[in-house]
Amino acid sequence: METAEQLRATEQGKDLFSIRGIHHIEFYVGNAKQAAYYYRRALGFQLRGYLGPETGVKDRASYFVQQGKIRFILTTPLHPDSPMAEHVKIHGDGVRDIAFEVDDAEEAYRITTERGARGVTEPFELSDSNGSIKMATIATYGDTVHSFVQRDGFNGFFLPNFVEREDPLAQPCGLKHVDHVVGNVDWNRMEETVNFYSNIFGFSKFVSFDDKDISTEYSALRSTVVANENKWVKFPINEPAEGLKRSQIEEYVQFYKGAGVQHIAMESENIRETISTMRANGVEFINVPDTYYVDLLERVGEITEPVEELRELSILVDRDDKGYMLQIFTKPVEDRPTLFFEIIQRRGGESFGKGNFKALFEAIERDQAERGNL
Ligand code: FE2
Repeated sequence: METAEQLRATEQGKDLFSIRGIHHIEFYVGNAKQAAYYYRRALGFQLRGYLGPETGVKDRASYFVQQGKIRFILTTPLHPDSPMAEHVKIHGDGVRDIAFEVDDAEEAYRITTERGARGVTEPFELSDSNGSIKMATIATYGDTVHSFVQRDGFNGFFLPNFVEREDPLAQPCGLKHVDHVVGNVDWNRMEETVNFYSNIFGFSKFVSFDDKDISTEYSALRSTVVANENKWVKFPINEPAEGLKRSQIEEYVQFYKGAGVQHIAMESENIRETISTMRANGVEFINVPDTYYVDLLERVGEITEPVEELRELSILVDRDDKGYMLQIFTKPVEDRPTLFFEIIQRRGGESFGKGNFKALFEAIERDQAERGNL
């Protein structure tokens, strides 16, 4: 049996200040009203809050949607001269902010900017009748940012100025929390991005111990993972590489006009039910050739799920020395080939699915061979 990537910290990292986890992820989009409908009806999120002109905020409309512990804000600018509009013009719909919940936003801002991060918004307080939060923001790769959210002085349901909304449409798909968020950077920029996270935050670097050249050949990308101390924050960073096919990372960077978030992986406790529901809702997933499943059990060993059911749903499996994991990728959720989502279920496995690059590649070649085109 071939083992997939095995991750081991290259150094024992220690967070330089307390990060509890990802508080929310904010997307800048061209039409948040319609985007919110997709996240609700297709991906199973519940609309929980709103801010915009009706609530006294004049420059934007923001929809707060939630499923399990996953909190997304979908924001659209209301005027062409705002930086949000510029973001949408350049990048299309995409992730602007991966916001961390921290114990002390001022300290987080001070430490990260002293260590070389570029400040975007200095610490400030945001209040409403439920109390106040402290926030600050720094830049990371591309036009993506990290906000620090300190909410110990706030009793509201989310963030100040959001008005609670009822959602009669809500039909959860079983998503529980964010497993990892992947950043794509340009050629030869991975190392400096990884170093950024270890220097600025104290995150640990993980390296892959399988045969690197082989996996790079099949995936046309190189990837290193950084994670915080409690492992609630896991960021694989990808850069393009020369491989058997043109790098999908290069294509992303061309269409996103720079570095940005490639995919967000969300964990389900029952991936088969989650994917059945999402398919019925009209979510599109990448195609997996039937031939991928021919030698699946030889590759990954014994698994609980019937192979036939995984084949029908196009769910992939990868194993490492800790266990296995199941995963599936949506097609990009915009017309540009940029951001997509991954649904993942971990059964002990800690990998990110690198073993599937080669398996998928070989499955596609088997299909080609059957058609006589190889
Ligand atoms: Fe992933």
